[in-house]
Amino acid sequence: MLGSKFLPVLWSLGFYLATATSQQDCPVTDLSIIAHDGDEELTPDLVTLYVTGKPSDKAVLYLTDVYGIQLLQNRLLADSFGRAGYFVVAPDLFNGTPSTLDLNEMSRSQLESFLAAATPEETDALISTGVDYLRNVQNITRIATTGYCFGGRYAFRWLSEEKGLKVGFAAHPSNLQDSEISAITGAVGVAAADADGMMPPERRSQIEALLLNTTQAYTLSLYGSVSHGFGVRANISDPRQKFGKEQAFFQAVRWFDTWL
Ligand SMILES: *[C@@H]1O[C@H](CO)[C@@H](O)[C@H](O)[C@H]1NC(C)=O
Ligand SMILES: *[C@@H]1O[C@H](CO)[C@@H](O)[C@H](O)[C@H]1NC(C)=O
Ligand SMILES: *[C@@H]1O[C@H](CO)[C@@H](O)[C@H](O)[C@H]1NC(C)=O
Repeated sequence: MLGSKFLPVLWSLGFYLATATSQQDCPVTDLSIIAHDGDEELTPDLVTLYVTGKPSDKAVLYLTDVYGIQLLQNRLLADSFGRAGYFVVAPDLFNGTPSTLDLNEMSRSQLESFLAAATPEETDALISTGVDYLRNVQNITRIATTGYCFGGRYAFRWLSEEKGLKVGFAAHPSNLQDSEISAITGAVGVAAADADGMMPPERRSQIEALLLNTTQAYTLSLYGSVSHGFGVRANISDPRQKFGKEQAFFQAVRWFDTWL
């Protein structure tokens, strides 16, 4: 009798403790889950897919910038999504030969030859290897995608029910086509830099108008005193860049925690 009288109180207390614990555990305020430096290896058995994180029913498909999974900072950022509770797969988008220059550092002819090799068809095929691995080997159906610069465009291209991805995020996407924005069928978040020649203010406004027209949940955050690439390759000795990189990461994690 006494037990049943106290049960609701205990239940409420339990609920309160569970809520308090989950708030305490919430990774989106915990800076320690972000690794800016380290020595994460790219092991030979993981050359086509970089796999990180813990077993989970939720995954992040990480789509790199032109420096690929070969760049330590890409692997460290993928690991940070792992510490935020996701199983993470980052496909090698360049078949072992990533660029040594960013898209905005290339001459016109370098850019043309790079993009001629990394076509949407070629890149989509490499991405599908990662998605197949998540769906058919890991059996994960709740999949979000995050993309940076070159990979940001593909986060939009892959954000469709048909392709099995439910939520997307892109930091400083480049070469993103209007039709690719209009075609999304899931919630999308964008992190933009105030100094990004590949996504200047006029383009940002167009992207906002296109996002609004999709009727999907969306957000676009502008980070000040940062430039193209800041989501991955910020100079973390500069407090403004460090904040921008960390906040763009938390923006993505909270977006996925909410919509996936
Ligand atoms: C995925 O499902 C297949 C078929 O049911 C099963 O053989 C395999 O062990 C599962 N993989 C994991 C990682 O659970
Ligand atoms: C958004 O939709 C409206 C109404 O269909 C259209 O007039 C407008 O051009 C669209 N905006 C963009 C940026 O496509
Ligand atoms: C990084 O930022 C620090 C602090 O602003 C600056 O002193 C340093 O020159 C920057 N490094 C590079 C490579 O730009």
